[in-house]
Order: sequence, then C-alpha cells, then structure tokens
Amino acid sequence: MELFDLIIIGGGPAGYVAAERAGAKGLKVVLFEKKSLGGVCLNEGCIPTKTLLYSAKTYENALHGNLYGVFGDNIRYDFSAMMSRKNKVVRKLVAGVKGKMKQNNVTVVAGEAFIKGRGGDGVEVECAGNSYKAANLLICTGSEAFIPPIPGVRESGDILLTSREILELKEQPESLIVIGGGVIGMEFASFFNSLGSKVTIVEMLPEILGGLDLEISGLLRSHYTKKGVDFNLNAKVVKIDGNRVVFEKYGKTETVEGDKILMSVGRRPVTAGFGLENLGVELFKGGIRVDEKMRTNVPGVFAAGDVTGFSLLAHTASREGEVVVNNLTGKKDMMRYNAIPGVVYTNPEVAGVGETEESAKAKGIRYKVLKLPMAYAGRFVAENEGGSGLCKVIVGEKYGEVIGVHMIGNPSSEIIYGACIAIEQEMTVEQLQEVIFPHPTVSEIFKEAVNCK
Ligand code: NAI
Repeated sequence: MELFDLIIIGGGPAGYVAAERAGAKGLKVVLFEKKSLGGVCLNEGCIPTKTLLYSAKTYENALHGNLYGVFGDNIRYDFSAMMSRKNKVVRKLVAGVKGKMKQNNVTVVAGEAFIKGRGGDGVEVECAGNSYKAANLLICTGSEAFIPPIPGVRESGDILLTSREILELKEQPESLIVIGGGVIGMEFASFFNSLGSKVTIVEMLPEILGGLDLEISGLLRSHYTKKGVDFNLNAKVVKIDGNRVVFEKYGKTETVEGDKILMSVGRRPVTAGFGLENLGVELFKGGIRVDEKMRTNVPGVFAAGDVTGFSLLAHTASREGEVVVNNLTGKKDMMRYNAIPGVVYTNPEVAGVGETEESAKAKGIRYKVLKLPMAYAGRFVAENEGGSGLCKVIVGEKYGEVIGVHMIGNPSSEIIYGACIAIEQEMTVEQLQEVIFPHPTVSEIFKEAVNCK
C-alpha cells in the first residue's frame, strides 16, 4: 500500500489544478483519471467547443470581409479540417496538463479509482488491484449530460446527441434541433448556424439562457433570430420520434424534424460507481454537500467542481480545488460565489458577473442600472461593422458599489474579469471612475457605463 498526503479522484479543472497546487506546495499527491487528463472541459467541453467556435467565427469574418474592405473569392470551409484542428488543440493542452503534473511531482494513475473506506489513519482507494492511502481525499468526479426520460429518447439511436457525441460528428448535419436553449445549446446553435445548418431551438422556459440578465438574453435571441435560428420558447418536449421532436407550446402540439437532435437540458453530478457509499458522504440536490471550505461531512474528505452540483463551471471548479489545497497547506481560504463570471461564447459573446436585475429584485436589493450601447467604445465601432451590443452595470443604490455587470458584444469574455475584480473588491462607481483603462479598447465601455447618469 502506498501512502500519500492527498488522493484526488478526477483529473478535470478541479482535480488537476488542485493536484498542481498541492504538488507545488510539497504535498505527496496521487491523481486518478480513468479517461484523459483535463476532464470534460479540456476533452469534450470548453476547449473543443471554443476551438470550433473560433473556426466558425473565422469563416464568418471571411464571408463578411467586404465590410472591412477585404475581398476574397470562393470562401469555404472544411468541416473535417475544423474537427481535426479541434482534436490537435485538445491533444496539445492535455499534454500540457501532463507536463504540469510531472513538474509538480504528482503521481498520475490512469485508471478507475474505487473508494474502499476510511479508517483512523485516512481514506483507502483501490485502482487496478493496487491500494493507496492518504489522510485527505478530494473528490472531483464532475458531471455528465442529463437525458430526461422523454418518450422515444432511448429509441432515437445516433440521431440524438449530447455535447460529447456532437463533437465527434464526421459530417455536418444539414439541420439540427436543440432541446434546451441554455449555454451548451446556444453555443452549438451558434457554431452550426455559422456554417449554414438549419437550427431549431426548443426551450421550456420563456427565455433562453436562464439565470443570465434577461435583457441581454433577449438581445442574443433576436440576433440569432435574424441569423435564421428558429426559437420555440415555452415549449415542452413530449415525444421524440426518430428524427422528429414533438412539443407543446401554448396548448398546441407542434413537430420539428432535423438530421440530428442535441439534448442540452443540463448536467448532473457523478456520484455513483466509485465507492462514495463506503464513506457515508452526505448528498444535497444530487451533488456532494460541501461547506465554504469544500469540506464534506466526513473529516478529511473534500469535494470540488461539478460533483458539488451548484456552479457547473470550470473556473469555479479550479478555484474550489485551490481552496481545498490552501486550507490543507496552512492558508485560510474559503469559496465566495458572488463574483463568478459566466460567459456564452456565441458570436457575439455574452458575459456577466454578479447580480442581474432579476436576481437583485428577487433578493430585495435596491439597485440602479447604468447602461450604454457597446458603440460608445471607439474600438468596438472600429472592429464591429454594423454590430451592436450593450453593457449594463448594476449598482447598489445606497453605497454605489458594483454588484453586477452584464455585456453582449465581442470580446465581452475578455473584459468581464475587470468586473469580477470590481465586485470581489466591493469597488464603488467613484473608485472605478478613477481607474485608467487603455484606449482604445472595448473594455472602456465599462468605464463609460459607470460614468453615465
Ligand atoms: P443549462 O442549465 O445551461 O440549460 C439547460 C436548458 O434546458 C435550460 O434553459 C432549461 O430550461 C432547458 N430545459 C430543461 N429541460 C427541458 C426540456 N425538457 N425541454 C426543453 N428545454 C428544457 O444546461 P446546459 O446548456 O446543458 O449546460 C450544462 C452546464 O454546463 C451548465 O451548468 C453550464 O454552465 C455549463 N457550461 C458552461 C459553458 C460556458 O461557461 N460557456 C459552456 C457549456 C456548458
């Protein structure tokens, strides 16, 4: 039996970041990964989708080059070349994670770990007939696509895809039905719409991208409506019949047909199949219950990332992993969830952090909204011919502190971190007004917005 300070199960953004940090701080760490280092994010989530979306954006930019005085004939794309590049990018980044593990003396075990139990001297885990023991265990087993029990779902064979299978398509579908207009649904809708596939979205709620600022979600939906995406809101799917999706909308039954169907109605934490029951860890709403230090109810057992079930984002996962390692290595640290950015990598991008108008209202927070069209930033006008966008800053009414920022327009994903810092540091509008932003950048919209009345 080999002894370690920390056993980590799952090599995604929670697990590999925790392993790297713990290794760097001198802990003896073993990390178990049954598939590929990097987890869903690197292998079948964030990175491959963003790679493909960039290919689609490049194609769209080329198609519209004339708006910028650039002309090209016979602009075309090669779907399989896009897919190959995506695979190459993933391989490169997975190799990078491997390198980091080595550099920080982390023992990586390629295999499926199983928790045997916990004794007075720590937790015991088994993998391929070998036993490993450590005083501390960090569970980072992630999440998987949720397939709701809609009649016909099991019979639809390879027509029905999740975000995993859609990334492995050999051919572009001529038409795609997306069930669930959340983040995954909208990003794939964006990709296939850019390439000319007919995209139909079937969303249960009255608006896409639930949880995001409602005005911004509405703007994104109108943008994609103009680009030819069909949206069916308030639509409840009642049956899947081969390549047809039957749904009810305002009491009427409608049917849409497509070459492929993407099921993107959320993800669920993975808590079964690795011996969790042998520890007596408490669950909450399907995920592992943790406190602000990512401790479970069992001493020495921690959980981080999607398996906790409440903020299914790679950047939350990594930070949660860091919190665990910091506390284990003598630095007091705890999770705060008020400044976690959310980005939707459509074209245009959407990004937001902190309270939305809707969440502020629900909490009874008195707020005011400072907002400006993106076109107030010169750089945005220079780089987005005919484009529009919006930046909204939500400010506490009493102290003038920034409590939320929401944007639509490129490159919101690269600007939003400034707003995260402002919220983390409880900066007021007055303090932000004194910060110097580089000119000309689209980020200036944030400063312009806090200067507006
Ligand atoms: P989601 O929770 O974002 O969206 C699911 C959508 O499906 C919701 O709008 C919901 O109302 C709808 N829905 C649920 N049941 C339905 C039904 N029976 N018929 C029609 N619509 C239905 O989940 P999604 O998009 O699957 O993403 C999963 C997780 O992955 C999310 O937590 C997301 O944050 C994360 N993710 C983040 C990305 C990013 O940060 N850019 C990219 C991709 C995923």
